Amino acid sequence: MSNSTSPADVTNTPTHASNCPDVTVQTEQGLYINPTALTAHLPALAYRNNTLYMEDISIDELAERYATPCYIYSKQAIVAVYQDYSDSFAAIEHQICYAVKANSNLAVLGVLAQAGAGFDIVSRGELMRVLAAGGKASKVVFSGVGKTADDIEFALNQGISCFNVESVNELILINKVAQQLNKSAPISLRVNPDVDANTHPYISTGLKDNKFGIAHDKAVAVYQQATAMSHIDIIGIDCHIGSQLTEVAPFIAALDKLIELIQNLADKGIQLKHIDLGGGLGVRYIDEAPITIAEFAQALLPKLTTLGLKVFFEPGRSMVANAGILLTRVDILKPTEHKNFAIVDAAMNDLIRPALYQAEMAVIPAVLSSVDADIEAMQAWDIVGAICETGDFLAKDRLLNLAGNDLLAITGAGAYGMVMSSNYNTRPRAAEVMVAGTQHQLIRKRESIEELYASEALWSAYQ
Ligand code: LLP
Repeated sequence: MSNSTSPADVTNTPTHASNCPDVTVQTEQGLYINPTALTAHLPALAYRNNTLYMEDISIDELAERYATPCYIYSKQAIVAVYQDYSDSFAAIEHQICYAVKANSNLAVLGVLAQAGAGFDIVSRGELMRVLAAGGKASKVVFSGVGKTADDIEFALNQGISCFNVESVNELILINKVAQQLNKSAPISLRVNPDVDANTHPYISTGLKDNKFGIAHDKAVAVYQQATAMSHIDIIGIDCHIGSQLTEVAPFIAALDKLIELIQNLADKGIQLKHIDLGGGLGVRYIDEAPITIAEFAQALLPKLTTLGLKVFFEPGRSMVANAGILLTRVDILKPTEHKNFAIVDAAMNDLIRPALYQAEMAVIPAVLSSVDADIEAMQAWDIVGAICETGDFLAKDRLLNLAGNDLLAITGAGAYGMVMSSNYNTRPRAAEVMVAGTQHQLIRKRESIEELYASEALWSAYQ
């Protein structure tokens, strides 16, 4: 993998290359990712007769049917991860609140609601999606630093389970809105435990110079302030220290800090009902080796069992990243003297993670040819979009055998893919498809170009 150790490269922490020499080979020209070995580590994806399948449908067939670029998600892979979380924490009372921000398609939310998941939301819009998908407000926690009075009123009227409060002024606002509605608002304080999640700076949230949460050493005082508020019902404590964490140590460090606070609060007569440890468990994009959900649970369970409170988790990425791919077709091959560019029909507007975080995501062919195992015969390609930005790349220096019109799958794209897409360069957003066994369904129609400017108007105020 990349030799660079700059912080910008840490998102996918590709530090375990030596653990899986079968998946990657780094040459002077570029990085080779063995498609068969990679998919052996991914749920729902496999090559059959050299053709990539998601569950029981060939990707080729899906491209014919739905065109490209297109996001495709495996229903079974999503449900399996939820089940894994649920089984791994079966020994304690718990609620898995899927972080909607990772992938908010109604079908994804609906499948998870049916499986029994709760939801972690950060906006009124996300709550409306959850409700539209059949989720229950009573299983929703509301995170985020900027809840408005309207957001709070809507959430209270729907009967959400808990507000994860991030500041004193938010607490005051919630109390005020609850009073106007003659309701009691269930709250938890999001504590910033000041632990280093050891992840990319943009997705690290538990350090004291991040904007999130209430400082650990101020938390008790804020809880005491909350006890004096007439329409606040203190029920929990929460934290979220960052995303794509591959080790358990930062989670344990954060848990220890929260346990200390819970004891401190109990001594002052403030009894909590739940602890919410946020999300953040990392996934394997290429050759990372994050702890598994079962290992995560094993490490936390002894302390959580002793604590005896209900436990909430807010996983996003780990629930959906590897259930999804972004399917794209090569439009133009542009070999140059210095670099080879494969211009594909997806771009940074479809998938911004590589451009924004220098995230390394695997790009594999939908159909393998006989030369796909021959690294010597391959050239290094930058897989780029058609957007007028140098930052518009999906992968750099990848050893691939490419021809015009080839179909490629970018794996790990189920989380923070479609949700972060935009219409930059007046590009319609991609279609989304869900697959289950041999069944497949369009779960979001590709936008038309006309739709993109249909709600705009020409200037006509003073003719
Ligand atoms: N809870 C809270 C309060 C959060 O802020 C987040 C993510 C989660 C839960 C879910 O974390 P996860 O399990 O997905 O790590 N766009 C970035 C990731 C941003 C994560 C923001 N917060 C990326 O593409 O890497």
